[in-house]
Amino acid sequence: MDAQHKTVTFSAQPHVSFIQSPSKSQSQPRMENLVLESFTDGDITDAILNEAARLFSENYGIWGKDSARPGKPVKLSGRRLKEQWLPESGKNFYVKVTVGGQLAGNVFACRWLCDGKNICWITQLVVSKDYRQRGLARTLLTFLRNQEVDIFGIISSHPAACLAAASSFAGNIEKVSLDYVRKNATAVMESSPIAYIKNAELSGSLFDTTASDGMVSGVNTHFLVDHEEPLEALRQVREDWQWPLGELLDGHEYLLILPARVHRSRSRSFSRK
Ligand SMILES: CC(C)(COP(=O)(O)OP(=O)(O)OC[C@H]1O[C@@H](n2cnc3c(N)ncnc32)[C@H](O)[C@@H]1OP(=O)(O)O)[C@@H](O)C(=O)NCCC(=O)NCCS
Repeated sequence: MDAQHKTVTFSAQPHVSFIQSPSKSQSQPRMENLVLESFTDGDITDAILNEAARLFSENYGIWGKDSARPGKPVKLSGRRLKEQWLPESGKNFYVKVTVGGQLAGNVFACRWLCDGKNICWITQLVVSKDYRQRGLARTLLTFLRNQEVDIFGIISSHPAACLAAASSFAGNIEKVSLDYVRKNATAVMESSPIAYIKNAELSGSLFDTTASDGMVSGVNTHFLVDHEEPLEALRQVREDWQWPLGELLDGHEYLLILPARVHRSRSRSFSRK
């Protein structure tokens, strides 16, 4: 951990809040006893990591046709989750939502400093297939907005994750400033303590004006997950929105970098002694 990160102060206690009463009009399974809980580094136990890895393995998606394991679920262990997504030199957050005591969705985020700005990067966002399209991803991300953050970032192949991030941090997807993404992508990502973000290859016409493959803002992660579901979501999203991020290419994911909208009074979370 570097000197700047030693002085971060966060609550050590998990935060719990009840956010919604059940709606009788919703189809099964019902959204009863919906609870949000947040955790920071020391509270993110192996049991939590294993539970999150199970949610990921059962709900993230399947490998694409050009991968080594076409059609098989993309799986993750708690140990690899910790190694790849929870760097010791960053400040890590976990927020989960349970419905009736069952894990329905979760988000991991990592914070670090870039040129004195607090970056909050959404490193993993998964909602159980049983509870999708009910606002849980947006609820999880909106919870992160309460922290003192200057810039939010996400890499995702799923348009719904981008929509949820845009609604939570920018108003909506049409309000995203591509110019802001272009100007900040390199500095923010190169300062990341997470290897796949730090080393990501920027992709799209936003970064290479000669690019003609249709992607506008993305990264080539060489992650050959199947895109059938995200592409169907993209088709639906384009019926409602002017989608600014362009086509979704195999092995690529979309990139969003968004300024935090609320300008708080200057009680910064990172103080230098
Ligand atoms: C991406 C994912 C987390 C979205 O979770 P969710 O709880 O269904 O998302 P929400 O209900 O909060 O919806 C967020 C937005 O996307 C839209 N949306 C969600 N699913 C959609 C779909 N299949 N088609 C079109 N729009 C969709 C919602 O209408 C909502 O739009 P709004 O913010 O403008 O109202 C979920 O689909 C998932 O876990 N996918 C697999 C893992 C993954 O790809 N994660 C992202 C990697 S970081």
